Amino acid sequence: MKVPYLDLKAQYESIRGEIGDAIQQVLDRTAFAGGPFVAQFEKEFAEFCGTRFSAGVGSGTDALWMALLGLGIGPGDEVITVPDTFIATAEAISWCGAKPVFVDVDPVTYNMDPSKIEAAITPKTRAIIPVHLFGQMADMDPILEIARKRKLFVVEDASQAHGAEYKGKKAGSIGDAGCFSFYPGKNLGAYGEAGAVVTNIAELDKKIRMLRDHGQAKKYYHSLIGWNARMDGIQGAVLSVKLKHLPAWNEGRRRNAAIYDELLKGVKEITTPKQAGYAKHVYHIYAIRAADRDRLIASLAEKDIHCGIHYPIPVHQLDAYKSLNLGKGSFPVAERSSAEFVSLPMFAELTREQIARVAEELKWIVGGIPA
Ligand SMILES: Cc1ncc(COP(=O)(O)O)c(C=O)c1O
Repeated sequence: MKVPYLDLKAQYESIRGEIGDAIQQVLDRTAFAGGPFVAQFEKEFAEFCGTRFSAGVGSGTDALWMALLGLGIGPGDEVITVPDTFIATAEAISWCGAKPVFVDVDPVTYNMDPSKIEAAITPKTRAIIPVHLFGQMADMDPILEIARKRKLFVVEDASQAHGAEYKGKKAGSIGDAGCFSFYPGKNLGAYGEAGAVVTNIAELDKKIRMLRDHGQAKKYYHSLIGWNARMDGIQGAVLSVKLKHLPAWNEGRRRNAAIYDELLKGVKEITTPKQAGYAKHVYHIYAIRAADRDRLIASLAEKDIHCGIHYPIPVHQLDAYKSLNLGKGSFPVAERSSAEFVSLPMFAELTREQIARVAEELKWIVGGIPA
């Protein structure tokens, strides 16, 4: 039995008719760039997140960049984030002309460790970007407390956390802005590239809408130097269809995570993910930790079980950021976890049988326990 890491086809098959109709409507109205389907999705997504506004953009990377630009982050500024993320979080800071400053993560949630933030703040610090890694939100209360005290903006990188909650509040709705990626493999994935910024600040939403559209609010009256970061009409229509299914898909992921938890309980060579007391985890990624990670992944692949690694190199150790001179040992928790992470197959349509097979093979590989 093959167990893929992700099966986008299975999800597509379950909504094929709805998707076909939605795309046909975009074609019939030739509403390809921005337009009514994007506007409709923006309204629905703001409602879903519990925010006043939502602006659709071209990708999650655009969302982060536009949010930071909209908040006025620029050259000479510093923005605090974590090394345990996809490079896009840091890239967005860099493309504003600002400097990413990293703080280590919590060893249990793998999210920003609030106790490390104060020491990283300098007179140049303007914002903090917690990343809700793997579908579990960072501990937002202490982060917000520091930000308020030090007059810093908080931009949530919620690219992996559509529908995740912190003390009952949705990802993206807590900071000054929440940034989402709708890359196809995400919990809410487009059929191409797309992203969104949600916020409760009217001025910020207005500015992001201008920035994403070459700095214009009225056609050809450009009052800012912006960019082309608009969302496609087809993506807006697809996302509206898929948003209706997101709560059920997230429940499916949570159910599957609970099955993994149950079947892998007591396997001492493996650390399974923990849901924090404050969190509703939506398991974009179900990442276990294991000492002999590469052998484990290769052995599973031989059995047709396919895993991922998120991420093999923490951002501060990537060649792209070598100019920061942050060597080995700078962020020990992030460095150790990135050497041990294994992302197991995870999607809503995964069956109990498939999960049981992954768990059995895993136990056999790590402990010699017969499958
Ligand atoms: C944490 C995080 N931030 C940002 C991004 C960037 O999103 P996109 O690929 O849509 O530009 C991703 C997507 O992989 C992500 O996982």
